[in-house]
Amino acid sequence: MEKIKLGVIPLVYPTPIVLIGADVEGRPNFTEVGDCAIMGIEPALVAISLNAAHYTTGGIDGSGTFSINIPHTGQLSITDYCGRVSGRDVDKSALFRVFRGEQTQTPLIEECPVGLECRVRETVQIEQRRIFIAEVLECYVSPSFVAETEGGRRIASLNRLDPILYALDNQYYCVGPPVGVGYQEGVEPTPKT
Ligand SMILES: Cc1cc2nc3c(=O)[nH]c(=O)nc-3n(C[C@H](O)[C@H](O)[C@H](O)COP(=O)(O)O)c2cc1C
Repeated sequence: MEKIKLGVIPLVYPTPIVLIGADVEGRPNFTEVGDCAIMGIEPALVAISLNAAHYTTGGIDGSGTFSINIPHTGQLSITDYCGRVSGRDVDKSALFRVFRGEQTQTPLIEECPVGLECRVRETVQIEQRRIFIAEVLECYVSPSFVAETEGGRRIASLNRLDPILYALDNQYYCVGPPVGVGYQEGVEPTPKT
């Protein structure tokens, strides 16, 4: 085995950068999160992992709802700011124009191209991490990022959405061009002997 062991690191890369929205003590709060993943398509499940001490965490504990807002690279500065200051010390409620999820009234960010209204299904606590597994109740997309097709409507390409990616080298990245089509590229390989 020609590998160098780097140690115990959750080196899954890249991760999407999202802004989690939740009402805390009666007003919207937004925090930056890199630990966000899809847990299933049907039902539509997502998971986020928050430090139990974060201001946002208490709000989600209380309401059982939150939003996932996906910023674009042009929103990097305000997104990083939401990851540098706590709603406990700074009022982050007026940083964005807020709209409310129709089913839960959870706060979402108007300026982000995509926002998911989520309801918590399970909460898992591991040491200081609170992991919220949630069902997506609705997916709100800004009209300029919806493509009309013969079969209906679909989300614009990642290159148009221009999301912020993050890696454990503490750098933000943007996406490159597509390199293939899912479920269509695989051909039977020659076995390695
Ligand atoms: C790039 C980046 C990624 C982050 N990812 C997470 C994360 O996945 N989970 C988490 O609990 N905090 C994460 N944070 C830290 C929180 O965003 C930060 O502590 C924030 O101030 C908490 O705000 P709140 O107290 O208002 O909830 C991240 C911060 C940055 C800058």
